[in-house]
Amino acid sequence: MTVADELNRRFSVAGARFIDGNNGLPMVKIANDHAFALVSIYGGQILTFRPVRGKEVLWRSQNSLYEIGKPIRGGIPVCWPWFGPHPAEASQPPHGFARIQTWQVDSVTQDDQGRTCLTLFLEDGDPTRRLWPHAFRLELSVRVGSDLQVTLTVRNPGQQPLRCATALHTYFAISDIRRISIAGLKDRVCIDKMLRNERRPDPRKVVVFNEETDRIYIDSPDTCTILDPDWGRRIIVAKEGSRSTVVWNPWIMKASRMSDFGADEWPHMVCVETANVFDDEVCIAPAAAHTLTARISCEAGC
Ligand code: BG6
Repeated sequence: MTVADELNRRFSVAGARFIDGNNGLPMVKIANDHAFALVSIYGGQILTFRPVRGKEVLWRSQNSLYEIGKPIRGGIPVCWPWFGPHPAEASQPPHGFARIQTWQVDSVTQDDQGRTCLTLFLEDGDPTRRLWPHAFRLELSVRVGSDLQVTLTVRNPGQQPLRCATALHTYFAISDIRRISIAGLKDRVCIDKMLRNERRPDPRKVVVFNEETDRIYIDSPDTCTILDPDWGRRIIVAKEGSRSTVVWNPWIMKASRMSDFGADEWPHMVCVETANVFDDEVCIAPAAAHTLTARISCEAGC
């Protein structure tokens, strides 16, 4: 019996089926009246989301690895408990370890509107304590309807306050990075990784792209909208419990240096990450929790 067989035996819900996915990794395939989605148990990572009458919303590289210990390139990786390189130890995995652990399934249900709800969790254990010596419980709740709602809850079961970064590192599928723009970040202070973390407010009404872009907008709790006139759609990213937004596209040179990123794929993705990073890291008191939610929906027109 495979892991997927066992999960199907334990969690039997119309519209959700566990499968042996890429390279045998267990995944749950969701197909209901509203949308299609694929979620990997490894990484606790949503890989695809496609409303029934619409194009794919998330981007995933054709060159992505599906290997234990390596992140999957695309969809919605969870970055936790740190963001980017580890602050002190270069040998630690970038963007934390949540995206390279196998999560566990807590529940799969269908609500009264026919939306499929999946909850995964990850708790501390020997492998995580070797990387980060703290007790924790992470819960990822995914609700697949005509929109995609993702909630990441970090619980602190320990005796000491827990300080961490959180990010839903969402890769969006777009027509062409040179022809899209992002609204919702005007006048927010941006830390520009391309300019040695220089800080300045971004006065532009919309963010546009003509080179490698790697920016953290701190104190940016508002909804972001990706305007994609060539595909005639707007992707709306509404959020709660998130004070930062990361915007990233590697452009041609950086993409060509990444082995899990196809050389000609960079124009077709943009990351708009619902996050709490840098100045906005969270500090969770003992027995308390922090919750971050992204609600992703699409509308026609720009
Ligand atoms: C972004 C960072 O969030 O993720 C970038 O701001 C980084 O600096 C990118 O290059 C991809 O990171 P990784 O570890 O998935 O290659």
